Amino acid sequence: MKVIPGPSSIQLGNKIAEILGVETVAVVHKKFPDGESYIRLEGEVKGEEVVIVQSTGPPQDTNLIQLFLLADAAKDLGAKHVSAIVPYLAYSRQDKRFLPGEAVSIQTIGKLLKASGIDELITVDIHQEKVLESFEIPAKNLSAAELLADHFKSRGLAGALALAPDEGRIEFVKEASRVLGGGYGWLRKERDRYTGKIRIKEATVDVSGREVIVFDDIISTGGTMADAIKIFKEQGARRVFAACVHPLLIGNAKEKILQSGAEEIVGTDSVPSDITVVSLAPLLAKALAEKFKG
Ligand code: R5P
Repeated sequence: MKVIPGPSSIQLGNKIAEILGVETVAVVHKKFPDGESYIRLEGEVKGEEVVIVQSTGPPQDTNLIQLFLLADAAKDLGAKHVSAIVPYLAYSRQDKRFLPGEAVSIQTIGKLLKASGIDELITVDIHQEKVLESFEIPAKNLSAAELLADHFKSRGLAGALALAPDEGRIEFVKEASRVLGGGYGWLRKERDRYTGKIRIKEATVDVSGREVIVFDDIISTGGTMADAIKIFKEQGARRVFAACVHPLLIGNAKEKILQSGAEEIVGTDSVPSDITVVSLAPLLAKALAEKFKG
């Protein structure tokens, strides 16, 4: 097996290869003056099982195109099998037609992954796992809940309450609470499909006097996380921490969350950021080792 660390995930790809003790294939990439992407593989892939590691956080469209170019080039150069590790799979939040006439973007991405020569996909905490069922290639979703919870436990937060800002992350906080041992809960919220504004309705658990960690899959503008933290603080939580798998951190997301009362924000290297402290490499390397052991 050879790992190809894509331009958006060079460090993560190198870490995975290092854990597995396998070779990497370097990638030369650049942007032409008109904005088009250029990709060149610097090593042999003929006859190899290759694993491309390329997350698709901002700039999503460039990162996706690079992924497609990498996969197609690898196949064209004779790779036997192409797996793609895409920890953050862009467009996964548009997983249905919320309003008439909308593109179901993640379905389109699923088709493009296959068309570009990817034989198999591994992603992490995709927004809705069931969208993967519509993909025409095998697709596996891993969870970083345990890794993130372990991080907080090692920082002395065993016994903290694991909270989700909405119903979509209940499984995640259940898993985190198995590590932290302090129980779990969530907020009920609604999003206006036209304005994108969210309205938080009610909490399902008593947080007063507790240390709490709010876990979400994505922090984009930070609005969801900041609102959740404000509510938990108002309800008497003693200390509140924010954690996410995919730190997109658009604009002043980080400041917004800190101003809402969070002690700290923790993210993974799914998307490199200045809150990235937990690496997905052990989780992804383990999944690959299991897949290739036979
Ligand atoms: C939505 O359901 C997701 O799980 C996240 O809560 C959301 O994408 C975060 O976005 P933002 O940071 O812009 O509120």
